[in-house]
Amino acid sequence: MGAHREQWNSRIGFFLATVGSAVGLGNVWRFPTVVVQSGGGAFVLLFLIIVLIIGVPVIIVELTLGRRAQKNIIGTFASLAPGSKWWMVGLFGLAAVFVILSFYSVIAGWAAIYFVGSLLGIFNGLATEGLTVLYGEIVGHGFLPLLSQGIFMFTTIIIVSTGITGGIERWSKLLMPGIIIILFLLLGRTLLLEGAWEGVLWFLRPDLTQVNLSVALSAVGQVFFSFSLGMGAILTYGSYLSPRENIPQSAVLIAFADVAIALLMGLVIIPSLFVFNVQPEVGPGIIFVTLPSVFNTIPGSMIWSSLFFLMLTFAALTSAVSLLEVGVAYFIDARKWSRRAATIALGTFIFILGVPSNLSQGAWANALIFGRNFLDLMDFTASSILLPLGGFFTVIFLAWVWGTDSALKELNRGTSSFMWGNAWAFVVKYIIPVAIFYIFVSGML
Ligand code: PHE
Repeated sequence: MGAHREQWNSRIGFFLATVGSAVGLGNVWRFPTVVVQSGGGAFVLLFLIIVLIIGVPVIIVELTLGRRAQKNIIGTFASLAPGSKWWMVGLFGLAAVFVILSFYSVIAGWAAIYFVGSLLGIFNGLATEGLTVLYGEIVGHGFLPLLSQGIFMFTTIIIVSTGITGGIERWSKLLMPGIIIILFLLLGRTLLLEGAWEGVLWFLRPDLTQVNLSVALSAVGQVFFSFSLGMGAILTYGSYLSPRENIPQSAVLIAFADVAIALLMGLVIIPSLFVFNVQPEVGPGIIFVTLPSVFNTIPGSMIWSSLFFLMLTFAALTSAVSLLEVGVAYFIDARKWSRRAATIALGTFIFILGVPSNLSQGAWANALIFGRNFLDLMDFTASSILLPLGGFFTVIFLAWVWGTDSALKELNRGTSSFMWGNAWAFVVKYIIPVAIFYIFVSGML
């Protein structure tokens, strides 16, 4: 063990940091995009079902493992099953961290450029065509997006290097309320637009003919990505928990906050697309082209779009912090590095790893691998392969190797008693492994 291991200072600090990890590009950009791609309300309904059956129980799984072991992602498996090969699940998680943060920081960098750009008014008066051209110029510029990605990673490094309570907890307490205030301002603004309610209805009314297995797979992927599951972020945050914390209750609150923010984000974005009758584009276009064009039609567009991109940058930052912390915790625990050295070394390494994703939007746009550019390839590898598999093996480990009895004992340390304990154990042992396996295999075929 390194020196002494830090613990969260307060419940609210832990809660905001964990919600900060969960709320990010996944809620603001990915969720509305997948909803549009997968048929609106039907996807939302499936997503909510999967949140209940898989999302909440797996948050409990990761928090319990983390709090029991008080270790990093690799050390957790190694210490709960000594002498076995299960630590390799942690290695998997670590790989996912590198992959995700490498492209995540690129997109976060664009958000930061768009924040500054909105303040400077460079998007003023542009319609979709103009904004499409500008988007291509910005992400393909080479130097500018690299600089922004670098500044974003640098900020992440600074926050993580100041530790759990002094860095991550303190910044989450500052940034999360900011995000929520901006979200409600934007929500008020868009719902006041004439015709917005048509979009609201489309968003909320499930058309059950749209439900099929591939929609289910994207819903599972979205739940893992949005809840930061399957790669050790929640597990690592759980390792800084005190035994007094009520894990099931925290899990429900975290899930509720993340889902509420995703739905509200959808309500900001989707109705405005209806109002202006714009074809929602698939991919980053929805955030960086369509939405600015909508903002441009309302008075004070500069303010609204600056606020939006500021919120997006903040949300990405608190998620990036949790990703970097997974790797940093490992190098501190297992390799005895200082926090400072670990953050700088890993942060720099991940920045370099992100350079191909960054350049894949411009200079290297023609270099396709399996028909995808580098950034899309990284996103696909992480969300559709590494996270579901990581989640699958983590759940199997808890249910069948460490055992649900040991898990329930750990869970009941903080609470008087976990009312749904037996139901949770059943779901974790049978339902979740089968569901992930089935959806994963059929989705891959
Ligand atoms: N949950 C984050 C989001 O929604 C992304 C993330 C994934 C963060 C995995 C940490 C780990 O944007």
